[in-house]
Amino acid sequence: MPSETQLSAMLLERPDALDAHLPPYLMAELSVWNERIKAMVKPKRYGHVMRVAALSYAIAEANGLDADRAFTAGLLHDVARDLSGAELLRLAPAECSQDACHALAVHGRAGRALLGRWGYQDREVLEAVEDHTTGPRVGNPLSKVIYVADVSEPGRGVNADIRELAFTDLDAALEKAIFSKVEYLQGRGICVHPRTLAVHQDLKFSSSFARSLFY
Ligand SMILES: [Fe+2]
Repeated sequence: MPSETQLSAMLLERPDALDAHLPPYLMAELSVWNERIKAMVKPKRYGHVMRVAALSYAIAEANGLDADRAFTAGLLHDVARDLSGAELLRLAPAECSQDACHALAVHGRAGRALLGRWGYQDREVLEAVEDHTTGPRVGNPLSKVIYVADVSEPGRGVNADIRELAFTDLDAALEKAIFSKVEYLQGRGICVHPRTLAVHQDLKFSSSFARSLFY
């Protein structure tokens, strides 16, 4: 794969040309899913999806993780993103007031439910799809990769620092992404999703525990 900087430039220019940089078997294996995703999301969203997939592949590879599955999870992560609020809540009933008031908050869970109905079975990939909206669960590195790639893909025009950090320290990149999201929302008086708050608490605890070992 190209360097992080080359990749970012390429992702912005021609997200559809990324398959040239991926193992051919991967695109062949995923062609059916690729067509489904294309049919499920708007063209602009598909550009985002391909950038997340390619960036996930590169981040996973840089961190010694399963890059093929990271690409797959990136490709599938927004499968439910363009469904209506009613459809989202039918697939993933509200768990809290934020879900009920803002149905987009469930699009990760809804995506997992939809993929499950279609017979997709890789549990870690499904968890990464579910978690990408509210934050990764403990013990699934693919979830971290997808979360970080989603918030920092170059098409968003923000979080270049998080993207860069992810290539050398995925945990630090995740911490930065979650901490800044929670600070941003709380600073504006917006309620944080309980699942995101739980991830935030876990990260706060583990980073203060890690600091206590050194000082
Ligand atoms: Fe999403």
